[in-house]
Amino acid sequence: MKIFLDTADIDQIRKYSFLIDGVTTNPSLIAKTKTEYSFEDLISEISKIVPGPISAEIISLESNQMVEEAQKIAGISQNIVIKVPMTMEGLKATKRLSQMGIKTNVTLIFSANQALLAANCGATYVSVFVGRLDDIGHNGMEVVRDAVDIIARYNYSTQVITASIRHPMHVLSAAKAGSHVATIPPSVIELMSKHNLTDAGLEQFLQDGGKIQS
Ligand code: G3P
Repeated sequence: MKIFLDTADIDQIRKYSFLIDGVTTNPSLIAKTKTEYSFEDLISEISKIVPGPISAEIISLESNQMVEEAQKIAGISQNIVIKVPMTMEGLKATKRLSQMGIKTNVTLIFSANQALLAANCGATYVSVFVGRLDDIGHNGMEVVRDAVDIIARYNYSTQVITASIRHPMHVLSAAKAGSHVATIPPSVIELMSKHNLTDAGLEQFLQDGGKIQS
């Protein structure tokens, strides 16, 4: 499973750049960073740090305007993926962008049927928001499992991104469900790397290492 970082924070992207395959941003993540960069400069900067896919979201709602906005953003760098909202207009734009060879990430997906429609319109990625589904008492990972199955069964080239990840168990479940990508917040990557037994074991090894004559 590929690991993307779900943040627009340049420092965090630099910090984890050695272990990530891509980055996903959205308007809320960008607003949260309170960056001095303009939107275009921020995306350009991120695309220089990470050579893999960098998702940047459009904010137009009408398909012609969506395509126009997407073309401008895609021009920033060759590794840009356009995040398109899961609406009928978004699907129309996704179809056209896919015919133009512009990569898309259809976002705000909450059902396998939405993923199916997006895959059929040529979406490069579909982002299933598992955390937001779990928050309202649904089973987010079930949508991931269904989307992965449908995509494999009908040979779509679309990749499923498990998004809106809240904790390490979401990542493990995504990997077991066959999600192609998990986009993970920096705090969850940090938690994934840790275990109390690793810390205790290392402390013991260091203590014992000090007793050995060189
Ligand atoms: O990639 C989508 C993700 O950023 C949404 O996460 O935590 O706002 O539900 P969240």
